[in-house]
Amino acid sequence: MQLSKFAVAVDGSPESKRAVAAAAKFSEITGAELQLITVVRPPEGWWGIEGSPPTPEAMSSAIASARNELLAPIQKSLEIETEAVLEVGEPGGAIINFCSENDIDMLFVGRRGAGVVERVMMGSVADRLAHNAPCPVVIVP
Ligand SMILES: Nc1ncnc2c1ncn2[C@@H]1O[C@H](COP(=O)(O)OP(=O)(O)O)[C@@H](O)[C@H]1O
Ligand SMILES: [Mg+2]
Repeated sequence: MQLSKFAVAVDGSPESKRAVAAAAKFSEITGAELQLITVVRPPEGWWGIEGSPPTPEAMSSAIASARNELLAPIQKSLEIETEAVLEVGEPGGAIINFCSENDIDMLFVGRRGAGVVERVMMGSVADRLAHNAPCPVVIVP
């Protein structure tokens, strides 16, 4: 088993911050590189039949705030260098694709996330990753 590339999925929740701390610790111990990934999910409706796509302005401001308010402060707070990746789409699928395409050896995720409604309506991102990720998944409470 390779231990050279780790990823951690961040959504701003306390659980995902604890996943970052765990991932950083394991990266330090193993010398693996660490990538942060966050997925900006377009507003409800875009994926369904109803609703119009988000305006370009709304999407670019969501992307900018994910970069500046979520990813950048985490990168700054860590003692190790990390790369931050931002994807747009459905979080579970986007993270699974990211892990496959980047040969991620281990994925860290929080057990819960930043959305109660999402969990009820869409099921859990953590659950989906635990079942379908192409690599071992560490689920951090
Ligand atoms: N949009 C996202 N981008 C990156 N990671 C995410 C995203 N949504 C959830 N995650 C990851 O999955 C974990 C569990 O969140 P989730 O399954 O969405 O629970 P909840 O239903 O409580 O929001 C989070 O702590 C985070 O690690
Ligand atoms: Mg969520």
